[in-house]
Amino acid sequence: MKNTSNTPPNAITTPDYWEDAWAHTDVPDAIDPRKDAPGNHYYQIMHALFTRALAAHCAPGARLIEIGCGGSRWLPYFYRAFGYEISGIDYTVAGVRLSQAILDKAGVSGRIVQGDLFDPPPDWIGRFDVVVSFGLVEHFENTSQVVSACARYLRPGGRMITLVPTMRGLYGLAYRLLRPAVYRKHIPHSRETLVQSHTDAGLNITHCDYVLGLPGMISAPASPGLPGRMAFAASCLYWKLERSGWGIPPNRWTSPYALCFATKSGETQT
Ligand SMILES: C[S@@+](CC[C@H](N)C(=O)[O-])C[C@H]1O[C@@H](n2cnc3c(N)ncnc32)[C@H](O)[C@@H]1O
Repeated sequence: MKNTSNTPPNAITTPDYWEDAWAHTDVPDAIDPRKDAPGNHYYQIMHALFTRALAAHCAPGARLIEIGCGGSRWLPYFYRAFGYEISGIDYTVAGVRLSQAILDKAGVSGRIVQGDLFDPPPDWIGRFDVVVSFGLVEHFENTSQVVSACARYLRPGGRMITLVPTMRGLYGLAYRLLRPAVYRKHIPHSRETLVQSHTDAGLNITHCDYVLGLPGMISAPASPGLPGRMAFAASCLYWKLERSGWGIPPNRWTSPYALCFATKSGETQT
């Protein structure tokens, strides 16, 4: 097991911060976009985007790794939806344990390793067809540096998927007012900053855009109690509108997330 007591370069969170978060999280279900519920709207949108980006390029059996996979509900999803061989790395004990518990609950096998993303197991360098991260790179002041570190895991021609909360516009304002301590743990991002950091890391962008018209997810499991439930009900109402084509198109002012797909130069395969 690696020593994770040091904070990696440019990080604005510490291992202790995440250990504490994961130690107090119950084992959730894996993401399943087939469930037809308003609260699943975000996952259905992401599933459509992933299908477009991956299905034609990476066949079942392709190797996928999630970097910063602590508590990940996504890994079982990639196994079930695309038949990928799944792995994950996270530097927290509690995060790794929770990811493993989520895999076990879903009856899915995968390899989860505890370690610092900047110090990969040597045989993981250049090994993966797909590298994904959800809510990782915005916790570092130098985004290009962490994106470059993630790209080391990719084989030439492999695909990188990066999702960040924007922490700008309406979403950033909501966090600044309601959860200022959490807000301070994020570097705000836009489509442009995400494109720039991936380009600086030597990757070729294939798609980069905002996701969702309004930041409804802020009120999902994160805000318990009556106000949280009321906000979640309002979100569900909005998602119903969005699913019927009456939503706000994703944009820099009100969207909660930005998503980037990129490839690493080199020969393609699978
Ligand atoms: C916002 S969480 C992401 C959670 C997960 N990917 C998901 O979508 O549910 C960020 C994760 O990155 C991990 N992390 C941060 N810095 C890291 C590093 N240098 N090496 C490995 N993991 C790291 C944290 O432990 C935490 O679990």
